[in-house]
Amino acid sequence: MMRISMSLPKKLLADFDEVLKDRGYQSRSKGIRDALQDYILRYQWMNEMEGERIGVITIIYDHHYTGVMEDLAEIQHQFRDTITASMHIHMTVRYCMEVIIVDGDVKDIRSVTEKMMKLKGVEHVKLTSTANGKNFDHGTDPDYSHNHTH
Ligand code: NI
Repeated sequence: MMRISMSLPKKLLADFDEVLKDRGYQSRSKGIRDALQDYILRYQWMNEMEGERIGVITIIYDHHYTGVMEDLAEIQHQFRDTITASMHIHMTVRYCMEVIIVDGDVKDIRSVTEKMMKLKGVEHVKLTSTANGKNFDHGTDPDYSHNHTH
């Protein structure tokens, strides 16, 4: 085992400890190891996807943070071929939530998501995706074509 030391915002650590307590963890180190493992897995999973997907990016950001709205708009214009629709919710006085529908090559979907994740002022970004249905229309699944008339 390696020993590291790190600085964390007080609130983040308090929230983390709260989750560990709820889940019955005895050791903070074990909690951090599991969280890191989960982070790595999620990244690898996102990187291993291929082909066309349809999905939702949920993003929460602090609209008082200078430049963040402009940066988000810039990214969305850049990826306008991938982004189908978006909805903006003024969540609190300070925080906005944006729900963005993406459809296209997973490489592009991943790029948009990662660009947003890197922005300062952005608190949370989550991507969920599924097969985008192109195979449903033209696929060779016998059960599917059996029950479907074109
Ligand atoms: Ni807003």
